[in-house]
Amino acid sequence: LKFVCLSNDGVDQHMIWLIGLKNIFAKQLPNMPKEYIVRLVMDRSHKSVMVIRRNQVVGGITYRPYVSQKFGEIAFCAITANEQVKGYGTRLMNHLKLHARDVDGLTHFLTYADNNAVGYFIKQGFTKEIHLEKDRWQGYIKDYDGGILMEYKINPKLPYTD
Ligand code: ACO
Repeated sequence: LKFVCLSNDGVDQHMIWLIGLKNIFAKQLPNMPKEYIVRLVMDRSHKSVMVIRRNQVVGGITYRPYVSQKFGEIAFCAITANEQVKGYGTRLMNHLKLHARDVDGLTHFLTYADNNAVGYFIKQGFTKEIHLEKDRWQGYIKDYDGGILMEYKINPKLPYTD
């Protein structure tokens, strides 16, 4: 089992994993247009953290780091159907937090959570109250109705993974 964080960089293996992740998102997020999922997952300004087991993608999170604003926007998050509620979603989120802090230099995450995923995001420490100053994120993240805007403040010291 391994966790990787990468973007569409032309490496064959990375492309194969990103396509696997795109297929999981398309199944698990049926309200999202498939073309939109493909576009963001393959977009070079987005990154994806993925859980890989026996060279197969189990799930992942695609996000866009806004380095100048020091926050990241989570676009999609999903675990394949038969592997949900086994702890992968939590471990994935912890790897994302660590990478975003130590590699991208981010302090916060924002995401539009689907109503049915709000419970998962709350368990990952996200809140419905947005503390981040508006001028740091307004105009950067796309408005999207059908979701609830949630925030996570990255802890500057937590180890996050073992
Ligand atoms: N609602 C409430 N609680 C949840 C949900 C949920 N939908 N999913 C998981 N949890 C809880 C678990 O019970 C667990 O609680 P515990 O720590 O008390 O035991 C905790 O959250 C973590 O569970 P994991 O096993 O780590 O979560 P999992 O691996 O299933 O990943 C995820 C969670 C990503 C939501 C997964 O269930 C999934 O892919 N769901 C379908 C797609 C989806 O809804 N994605 C999010 C859409 S919003 C967006 O993409 C921005």
